[in-house]
Amino acid sequence: MNPVLIVGCGDIGRRIAARVAPRRLLALVRSAESAERLRSQGITPFQADLDADPDVLDVPVAGHEVFYLAPPPGEGERDDRVARVCRRWRGDSLPQRLVYLSTSAVYGDCAGAWIDESAALRPASARGRRRLDAENQWRRWSGETGVPVVVLRVPGIYACDRLPVKRLRAGLPVLSPGDSPYTNRIHADDLAQVCLAAMARGTAGGAYNVADGQPTTMTDYFFKVADCLGLPRPPVVDRQTAEQRLSASMLSFLAESKRLDNRLMLRQLGVRLQYPDLTAGLAGCRSETAADSP
Ligand SMILES: NC(=O)c1ccc[n+]([C@@H]2O[C@H](COP(=O)([O-])OP(=O)(O)OC[C@H]3O[C@@H](n4cnc5c(N)ncnc54)[C@H](OP(=O)(O)O)[C@@H]3O)[C@@H](O)[C@H]2O)c1
Repeated sequence: MNPVLIVGCGDIGRRIAARVAPRRLLALVRSAESAERLRSQGITPFQADLDADPDVLDVPVAGHEVFYLAPPPGEGERDDRVARVCRRWRGDSLPQRLVYLSTSAVYGDCAGAWIDESAALRPASARGRRRLDAENQWRRWSGETGVPVVVLRVPGIYACDRLPVKRLRAGLPVLSPGDSPYTNRIHADDLAQVCLAAMARGTAGGAYNVADGQPTTMTDYFFKVADCLGLPRPPVVDRQTAEQRLSASMLSFLAESKRLDNRLMLRQLGVRLQYPDLTAGLAGCRSETAADSP
C-alpha cells in the first residue's frame, strides 16, 4: 500500500481521509486552524502555503499517491499554485500517481447539450480558464516526469452539510425553469469514493466527468433543496431582473448550460454511486443541521 498525500485537505480531502488508514496519510493545508482540525481527527497535517516560496513545499512526496484538491488562486487566467508544485516535484522525488480535481467549467457553455469527455474545452469564465491551465500543466508535467495523472471534471458538490441555506434564507431569486440552465451535481461522499477509484483504476492521462448523471435546471435544484429543508421556495424572476440582483459569480454559473455524461466514470472506474440522484442525496437533510456550501 502506497502512502497517500492530500494537497488541499478540506471537505473532500477529509472525506477521502476517512477511507484511508491514518498511518498512510499526510494532509497539506494552508492555515493553522485547518492543521489543528486535522490533528484532532488523528490526521498528520503538513502546513504550507502554495502561494508562497516553493521552499515551503518541502512536503515528502516520493512514492506517494497524491490527491491534488487545492483550488487555483481566485484571480487571473493561470494556476500559479500548480505551476509552483510542478516546478518543485522533479528528479528523484516524485509521486507514484496523481489525481487532479478539476471542474466541468473547462467545457464552457454547451447550450444544454449532453457532453462526454471528448467535448471541446472552451472555458467561458476566468474560473474555467484557470482550471484548464491547471489540467494542461499537470499533463505536461506528467509527460516530462512519467508520473501518471488522472483528471476529474467535477460540477456542483453537495451534501447535507453543504447546501445553499444562506442563499435560500436571503430569498435571492432564481430564473424561471424555462430560462434556467442545466446544472450537474455530485454528492460529496460519492466524489470522495470516485477520487479513490480514479487513483486505483483511472487511465493515465485520462479525464472523467464526475456527476450523478441526473442533471436538472438550477431552479429545480434550489426548489428541491428548499422543499427538503422546509424553507420557502425562492422567488422566480426574468433574466434582466436576475442580472440586477445576483452576484457576478452566480451570473457566471447561469451563463453556462450542459448535461454531463458520466458513463465513462461508471464503466472504467467501476463506481456504484451511493447517491444516484438529488432525491437520494437530500433524503434525511434537515435545516437544523444543513450548512452552507464552502
Ligand atoms: N464547491 C463546488 O461545488 C466545487 C465544484 C467543483 C470543484 N470544486 C473544487 O474541489 C476541490 C475540493 O473542494 P473542497 O470542498 O474540499 O474545498 P475546501 O473545503 O475549500 O478545501 C480546499 C483546501 O485547499 C487548501 N488550500 C487553499 N488554498 C491553499 C494554498 N494557497 N496553499 C495550501 N493549501 C490551500 C485549503 O487549506 P485551508 O483550509 O488551510 O485554507 C483547504 O484545505 C477544490 O479545488 C474546489 O475548488 C468545488
